[in-house]
Amino acid sequence: MPNTAAAPTAFWLAGREATGETTFDVTSPWDGRLVGTVSVPTEAQVEEAVAASVAVQDELAATPAHVRAAALDHVVRGLVERTEEIAQLISAENGKPIKWARGEVGRAVSVFRFAAEEARRFNGGEAQRLDTDAGGAGRLALTRRFPRGTVLGIAPFNFPLNLCAHKIAPAIAAGVPIILKPAPATPLSGLIIGELLAGTDLPAGSWSILPVPNDRMEALVQDERLPVISFTGSDTVGYAILDSVPRKHCTLELGGNGAAVVLPDWSSEQDLDWAAQRIATFSNYQGGQSCISVQRVIADASVYDRLVAKVVERVEAQVTGDPTDPATEVGPLVSEAAAQRVESWVDDAVERGARLLTGGKRDGASYAPTVLENVPAGATLATEEVFGPVLTLQKVDGVDAAFAAVNDSKFGLQAGVFTHDARTAFRAHRALEVGGVVIGDVPSYRADQMPYGGVKQSGVGREGVRYAMDDYTYERVLILTGLDL
Ligand code: SIN
Repeated sequence: MPNTAAAPTAFWLAGREATGETTFDVTSPWDGRLVGTVSVPTEAQVEEAVAASVAVQDELAATPAHVRAAALDHVVRGLVERTEEIAQLISAENGKPIKWARGEVGRAVSVFRFAAEEARRFNGGEAQRLDTDAGGAGRLALTRRFPRGTVLGIAPFNFPLNLCAHKIAPAIAAGVPIILKPAPATPLSGLIIGELLAGTDLPAGSWSILPVPNDRMEALVQDERLPVISFTGSDTVGYAILDSVPRKHCTLELGGNGAAVVLPDWSSEQDLDWAAQRIATFSNYQGGQSCISVQRVIADASVYDRLVAKVVERVEAQVTGDPTDPATEVGPLVSEAAAQRVESWVDDAVERGARLLTGGKRDGASYAPTVLENVPAGATLATEEVFGPVLTLQKVDGVDAAFAAVNDSKFGLQAGVFTHDARTAFRAHRALEVGGVVIGDVPSYRADQMPYGGVKQSGVGREGVRYAMDDYTYERVLILTGLDL
């Protein structure tokens, strides 16, 4: 449990609780109160965790699927039983409104549940007959997946529980050891997973959760005993990791500047009400601190004015304030510095000629839900991931122009397309340079079992339980000869 009294919250070293020699404080971005004090592992303890993960590789890979699935089921039960407590913790350390924090716990439950299911069906093996060529007569190939080696998981602050779950649950499901580093601003939610895993029969060393400071991560990134890196965070850090270890298997879930496209056929009052509500909600959820929050609305000229009026009305109706209040929809950003950065980007866009339709004000770590139009192409707001409650609106003529506007970005994570036309849906699927296209809704929709990830500067590889398991393992073929096929 997080501890605001004398004893710091322990970390998890090779499956057991441990404390180091130093600590750091975790404070609420809403009111600055102390949420917890976390113990930092020493270099010797980090080394112990890495060595234990290597030592356990064969044992974990040989641990029966039912044991690993049972461990994952145990976490599911723990998360369900402790939902409210964990949601309060997420909200306290991250500033996320409690309604979204509860949703996040529900999603983490799903991740562990999917992982338990995948553990049971993973690696049944595929058979391929090789006598399709004369040289392969009597031969059969059997393909199974085997661990690449210990995974180094690096999680971000914006979903402090669920994005830790997305690293650790697939590792257990695939029988691969993992060392997980939660984000320094929000380590407590990830450490809770350790409390739950500690009640399982997984062999010691299978998992560690280590709040290692960012400035000590280089050694772990470079460590050749950790051949897989699964990183979620900024594109700057992600690509720095990839460039520094080009021979490692890296999965990078990076930024986005999610576009919601509203096409001419999405034009009834009911259509536009739905689109406006979804856009307003999902440009502001988590204070816009999601890689798939709506940052850009690209609307056909035929619906633009009506849509804009509805979007602005609904954005202004977002309930802002205290994240502990169940009515609150938009809380603070993760820090005052984050809110100051968002403020400077919006101010810059306005100075360059953008029109501010609502918002544009900062109060400490909180930034008001903001809508702008006519943002010039050169503004940072137009090109970078804002990671704040800010929406830009763009008027276009026709489907081609809309899709070109979506693709006019260095990012390519997800896009939402509001259309009723199945042909346009397939066209969007083909034309949009993103990892996921959502028809009839915003880009912010994510089901935790589906492949999730981007193209271009949004990263490489896919998460989503089964897809992460594939990344953590590799195919090895067994060729049998002399068979009577
Ligand atoms: C992210 O910000 O990349 C995660 C979004 C989500 O899981 O909904």
